[in-house]
Amino acid sequence: MVMNIALLKGDGIGPEIVDSAVEVLKKTGEKYGHTFNFTPYLIGGCAIDATGEPLPKETVEGCLAADSVLLGAVGGPKWDTLPGNMRPEKALLGIRAAMELYTNLRPAKLYPALKDDCPLRPDIVANGFDILIVRELTGGIYFGDRGYREGKYGEEAYDTECYSRMEIERIARAAFEAALVRRCNVISIDKANVLESSRLWRKTVHEVAADYPTVTCTDMLVDNAAMQLVKNPSQFDVIVTSNMFGDILSDEASQITGSIGMLASASLGATKRGLYEPIHGSAPDIAGQDKANPIATVLSAAMMLRYAFGLEEEARNIERAVDDVLEAGVRTADIAHGVNAVGCKEMTAEILKRL
Ligand code: IPM
Ligand code: MG
Repeated sequence: MVMNIALLKGDGIGPEIVDSAVEVLKKTGEKYGHTFNFTPYLIGGCAIDATGEPLPKETVEGCLAADSVLLGAVGGPKWDTLPGNMRPEKALLGIRAAMELYTNLRPAKLYPALKDDCPLRPDIVANGFDILIVRELTGGIYFGDRGYREGKYGEEAYDTECYSRMEIERIARAAFEAALVRRCNVISIDKANVLESSRLWRKTVHEVAADYPTVTCTDMLVDNAAMQLVKNPSQFDVIVTSNMFGDILSDEASQITGSIGMLASASLGATKRGLYEPIHGSAPDIAGQDKANPIATVLSAAMMLRYAFGLEEEARNIERAVDDVLEAGVRTADIAHGVNAVGCKEMTAEILKRL
């Protein structure tokens, strides 16, 4: 198989972690007889510095022409004072929208080797947890009508949460499909006791649920969900939720796995191409110091092999190598508790050895 992959390294630790995942992909290609070609494009702060805009046209065209896209992270203090539509984060939203990636899959599971990193009491995680957050990614308040206006108290700013039935239906379908090959349980998270958009969400999710009689579907209010994630994480299989609730709950879920440096994600649309990225940010405080944990990006590359290219065995081989590395006690600083941490390069070498 020959595959063309667009690389969006971005800012901060982005280049280091993407380089690590590229090595893992190359080695996987050698082992299984695939050729992966990589073409880098600018995104985020580095694109602003080089071209004056966070998401240059060539980047969008390159991603749309590629077979898949691997992204590191964007943003940093240098660009924090730019106006909203010129910020690096805008590029991330822009590429998600341009590629119509409405489904964001964010798995969060407890690695037995990292159970001491989990901040929850041992009895709470005695049964472990394995959660798939299915986050809507191109709608809701992130993309709704926004602006400034004169209000009752003078100047005010507003953002709008708006969901169409179509948008809810397609993300619900993605969640139920995912549940079919997992533990057949979907919990839909909303704020239907307050928000009209959540009431349409809830109604539509249940309409879709009727097509999946083998999957159980229950609703949970988002405030309760935030609590349940730390009270009883084992109860969750697939979570389906809106763009903003998914953003917040996936950071919370990452923290109970031990480190946000472990969580991969796949952003998918109607085509198989997709965009794959760690859920963490650009970590400017440790950028360029060979301290970053590359595992989330390496696992994102595994998700790419699975979803974009249908290479299940190759994906599992990478995931197994990560398991082995953790079992062997190799740790980057975020999961090392200050003892014997290896750098990003050494962690990569340890994974490569086990592929
Ligand atoms: C994420 C990030 C982004 C988001 C930011 C950087 C725009 O937090 O992917 O979770 O909010 O979607
Ligand atoms: Mg986030």
